[in-house]
Amino acid sequence: MTENNRRARILATGSYVPEFALTNEALCRMVDTSDEWIRERTGIRERRINPNLSNREMASTAAKRALEMSGLSPLDLDMIICSTITNDNYTPSLACYVQGDLGASNAFAFDINAGCSGFVYAMENASAFISSSRPNAKAVNHVLIVCSENLSRITDYTDRSSCVLFGDGAGAVIVGADEVGVLASYMRADGKGANSIVAPALTAATVTEDGRVETAPPVEKPGLVMNGREVYRFAVRAVPEAFEAGLKLAGLTADQLDYAILHQANLRIINAVIDRLGLDPAKVPFTIDRYGNTSSACIPVLLDEMNRSGKLKRGDKLAIAGFGSGLTYGVIVTEW
Ligand code: ACO
Repeated sequence: MTENNRRARILATGSYVPEFALTNEALCRMVDTSDEWIRERTGIRERRINPNLSNREMASTAAKRALEMSGLSPLDLDMIICSTITNDNYTPSLACYVQGDLGASNAFAFDINAGCSGFVYAMENASAFISSSRPNAKAVNHVLIVCSENLSRITDYTDRSSCVLFGDGAGAVIVGADEVGVLASYMRADGKGANSIVAPALTAATVTEDGRVETAPPVEKPGLVMNGREVYRFAVRAVPEAFEAGLKLAGLTADQLDYAILHQANLRIINAVIDRLGLDPAKVPFTIDRYGNTSSACIPVLLDEMNRSGKLKRGDKLAIAGFGSGLTYGVIVTEW
């Protein structure tokens, strides 16, 4: 590996999902819905939740499992990126808690908030830091990415159109510098659609035109509000666009991929993307039926399951697609 040939490669994975399964039958007792409607419209049978668990506990558990698989010491980590939209606090960042819990005292640490695209956004950052050689800055050789979400805390369990979708979970990867790894990336955002998925802050301060600061009364429960149809339309347009652009940049065609890893928002979205891109469904694994949408945690949890069950082999070519609130989207094409 030379200074000009440093790529970001996933070395190890870890994950954590709570034990308690919130089934469709249980949701039918909470809102006016049915198991049939949820399965037909979303593909979800159950989701794991534990609103009493801190994001920090989930994130640090997934991180420790990934670190253990990598065989590295916490001191080998140069950078920690956490992705979350449900941090326990406005500040400090989740990444700093994880850094402290691991004793990764050589790593700098920060969070990103890119909704369900958090994993691909974090991979893009890890890849950029690993590949870049900067004067008077320490080389970044090992990055820990943790995506951890307590969506049950911000889910409005009186809103049947959104509460059936979400679950809790955390996924982590250790990324290292190698000659093989990320081949291409295509990252985007469409802020004009920002209001399609909103979880408001506890208090909202606005500055009026004449310069006064007005603070709105505290929101009692900061529930997530989503325009499902708009997000659906966005996803089936944006994911194929990013996919085709990412593959073109990598010089690959869809049939050369071993796996297409998609954000797990809805099985109908996954199937629509499979149809539009002519993908082989056997190469598009999913967990949505068991875990629901765990936002940015979906992709690393799925990768960890595939890795631990021996499905992923060194040299496999993967296209990984995220999309979510922001609206954000992006694709990373990588060699495993
Ligand atoms: N049970 C029964 N009926 C329901 C339910 C429910 N749980 N939810 C909605 N309905 C009803 C609606 O009220 C509507 O009834 P009406 O026709 O009498 O008005 C009917 O079902 C159809 O509603 P739609 O919203 O058109 O249903 P759709 O087929 O679009 O499915 C869904 C809704 C599942 C939310 C879908 O739009 C979707 O998956 N969107 C994408 C969501 C997503 O991907 N979010 C990811 C981002 S989240 C993040 O970043 C954190």
